[in-house]
This record gives sequence, C-alpha cells and structure tokens, in this order.
Amino acid sequence: MLRGISPHSAVEMHAHRQSGHGTQSTSATVNQGRKFGTWTCFFMLLELVESQREGIGQRRSAAFFRAVADGIPMPRVAWQLYFRAARLLRFGTATVSLMFALQRLSRARMSLPTKLDRKAVTVLITGAGGQIGYSLIFAIARGELLGKDQPVNLHLAEVEAAMPKLRAVVMELEDCACPLLHKVVATCDDVDAFAGVDVALLVGARPRTPDMERKDLLAVNARIFERAGALLDSVASKDVKVVVVGNPANTNALIAAEHAPSIPKENFTALTRLDQNRATGAIAKRLGVSPADVKGAIIWGNHSTTQFPDVSSATVDGKPVPEAVGDEGWLRGAFTSLVQNRGKEVIEARGGAGSAASAAHAIIEHTRDWLLGSDGATVSMGVYTSAAVGGSYGIPPGLVFSLPLRTYRGGRYEVVEGLPVSEYARSRLAVTQTELLEERSKALTTTPESGAGGGGAGVEVA
Ligand SMILES: NC(=O)c1ccc[n+]([C@@H]2O[C@H](COP(=O)([O-])OP(=O)(O)OC[C@H]3O[C@@H](n4cnc5c(N)ncnc54)[C@H](O)[C@@H]3O)[C@@H](O)[C@H]2O)c1
Repeated sequence: MLRGISPHSAVEMHAHRQSGHGTQSTSATVNQGRKFGTWTCFFMLLELVESQREGIGQRRSAAFFRAVADGIPMPRVAWQLYFRAARLLRFGTATVSLMFALQRLSRARMSLPTKLDRKAVTVLITGAGGQIGYSLIFAIARGELLGKDQPVNLHLAEVEAAMPKLRAVVMELEDCACPLLHKVVATCDDVDAFAGVDVALLVGARPRTPDMERKDLLAVNARIFERAGALLDSVASKDVKVVVVGNPANTNALIAAEHAPSIPKENFTALTRLDQNRATGAIAKRLGVSPADVKGAIIWGNHSTTQFPDVSSATVDGKPVPEAVGDEGWLRGAFTSLVQNRGKEVIEARGGAGSAASAAHAIIEHTRDWLLGSDGATVSMGVYTSAAVGGSYGIPPGLVFSLPLRTYRGGRYEVVEGLPVSEYARSRLAVTQTELLEERSKALTTTPESGAGGGGAGVEVA
C-alpha cells in the first residue's frame, strides 16, 4: 500500500486532555464538595455545642470531628459504631452523620477516575486526506463513533504525495482541541499506520480514472487490500474490527480478510450502510414521513449497481412499506434504480466528486451500530459469508455479501433469519451474487501486470 515511503514523515500530536468539558465537570464536582464541606462544618459546630452542653460522648465526638476536619477516611468498624451511636443519640448527631456521609460521597465522586481516564481506542483511517476523510476525522474526534466518553487515538494514513494535505487536516484537528482525542499519528508509513489499531476504516483506494476499465480498478485495488490484510494480520490488534469503504468495497474486504489469516473473518465488513440510508431516505421522501419512521430497509449483495434494495419487510409507522407505498411498479423500478445509481447521480451533480459527507455519516453509523449494538434494529453490512452467515438465504460461502443483521455490543452480529424471499427477490439476489463471484475470481487471481479477466456486470458506486 504505502510501501517504500520514508517512515520519518509521521506527524504526532498529543491532544489537550485538560481542556473543554473534562475540566468543567471536574470543577463542578469540586464546588459541590465545598458546599457539602461547609454544611458539615456548620453541623459539626452545632453538634459540638450540643454535646458539650449535654455532656454526651464528648471525647468520641471530638475524635470524629477531627477525622472529618482532617479528611481522614475512617475504618468500616468506626462507621458502624458511629451510626449506631447516631441512632441512639439526638437529631443533631444524626444530621452530622448524614452530612458526613454526603461529604464522603462527594469526595468519592471527585476521586473517581474521570471518563477521560478510560483506555483510548485506536482508530485507523486510510485515505485520510481525501474527501470522506475530511468529514469522518472530525466526527470521530467529536465522539460520534464510539461515544462522547470514549477517548480515541487517530492513525491517519495517506500516500506520500497527499501528506501535505493531510498535515493541513491535522492542523485543523489541533485547532479543534477535542477533549476526546488523545493522540494523532499522521503518516505515509503503512506499518506505523496499522500498528496496534483496534478499528480500521479502510477508505483509501485508487479512484477509477477515465482510461481505466473495471478490471483495472479491481487489479490495482486488489494489491492495496492485500497489503492492508497482511498489515492487519501482522501489526494490528488481533480483535481489530475492519470496515472497508474503498471501492469495490465488498471484494476489497474479501481480499483483506483472505490476507489476514490470524484475524477472524467476521471482523471484516464492507460499507453498504450508505445504500441502506439512501433506500430509507427515498421511502421517507415518497411517503412524506420522517426517515426515523421507516424501519427495516435492507441492502442485499454488492455495493454496486447490482445491489438489491429491499423494503418488502420494512415498515413505516408499523405499517408494511409495500402497503404504505401501494405501488409495486415504483418499488421495483424507479426506487430500485434510484438507490442503485445514487452514487453516480451525486458524482455528476458534484462535478466529479463522490458522496463524501453522506459516506462519512454512513461509516459512523455502520461502525457504531456494529461495535455498540443496533438495539434490535435491522442493519445492512457486507459480511463474510459461510453456511451460518447467509447460507439460509442460499448465498454461497466465501463472499463479502450485504445481509440484514442485528448487531450486539462488542461487535457480535447475527443474520436476521426467516425473512420472506419472493421469486422476484430471488432473481435480484442471483444477479448481485453472480457479480460478486466474478469479482472474487478476478481479484484473487489478477496481478497488476497481467490485468487478466473481464469486467463484472455492475459498476461500483460511490
Ligand atoms: N462503500 C461506500 O458506500 C462508498 C461510498 C463513497 C465512496 N466510496 C469509496 O471510498 C473511496 C474514497 O472516497 P473519497 O471520496 O474519500 O476519495 P478521494 O479520492 O477524495 O480520497 C481517497 C484518498 O485515498 C488516498 N489513497 C489512495 N491510495 C491509498 C493507499 N494505498 N493508502 C492510503 N491512502 C490512499 C488518496 O491519496 C486520496 O487522498 C473511493 O474508493 C470511493 O469510491 C465508497
């Protein structure tokens, strides 16, 4: 991938852990502690006066008050004695006990490790200087990927020629002073980039140029993702979770998985969430509802024009989408074509640039749902197929195929089984499956020199 490039161009930066919300929340807790301390002193004095007057437990009270004043934590047995005594004694003592307990609680809160003390998760973004990177990096730095209480290290990888652009992104990142950002490594050395990563977002890929045929794109990117697989295998965390975005995403994910034998195949996924979001958005627009009301749109197969966007099991406000739309012709025709060709449409509208903000948004949703769980919602991801994954729908093993899934915290997922598959759906699945089989046979045998093989039926979509 970035082979042969000097390792000395890495830019490292340590982010500002004391800035922003972390400092604000700590000072709020300290103020609260002071307030409790003031009240405790007031009741201590009250109690001292009362106990002097009544002559009850003067010596013991005085010892406890000193303990409070000095902030000495008392042994458990002393607490038990004290509360027993407080029950036998008067209101004043009980109040002191209560305030004392509250003060201890607030002290305990102050000494709890702040959330920023959690171990940082290391996230790699390849192609970080590109368009998607420019949206994705800042969303991750804001905590949108793994939560607002999870610190992250960012490893940003680029080819050497794009390093000046990446350095500019790092400058902007520094200027954000994001409290969750522990460390940023911006590099064109691929070993540094992949070292120890927990999450790998493989965005960087060679774009298709006008002189290139699809088979050439497959061949060039096959080399990039072979190298990525080998690096993941040798220097990344053994539990690394991989999201392949660079096109052709499904087959690139397959290649990376095949070149990382020590990492479980289920840790490799391809992004089809953008297609799912496009399908959801198109249905919501047609019905004039919020996208939040549309649930269960599925993408089957390849992230290409052969993909099958399926809303036959989806609902809108609990009603089946086909019933709500009431136009099967539109669903099979214009709707399907819109989702399949949306990437191309965006490229044309943006004068050659691909979907970037929507892709970054989809990467965040894909990864967050995968790692933190989808709360029972059905989500689509390209996943490595086997008898247990996709077999019940007749999908052959050893492909990266987009399927309906439920995901669970920690990265586990299972296929949503038992969905009805009509004859029409079966024919759509066959088309996208054939394309993926063709891509696999070409990508796993083609070398950049030979450029062997012809193009698949579909066209990759951005
Ligand atoms: N799966 C999806 O849903 C989806 C959606 C949108 C885009 N994409 C794909 O994502 C990829 C990136 O899109 P973009 O708009 O950011 O493109 P871009 O051209 O703006 O950026 C790609 C970056 O990758 C870098 N790069 C190229 N080869 C690299 C390598 N070997 N290692 C590291 N970096 C490398 C380039 O220098 C460039 O900066 C494209 O392949 C695009 O087709 C996929």
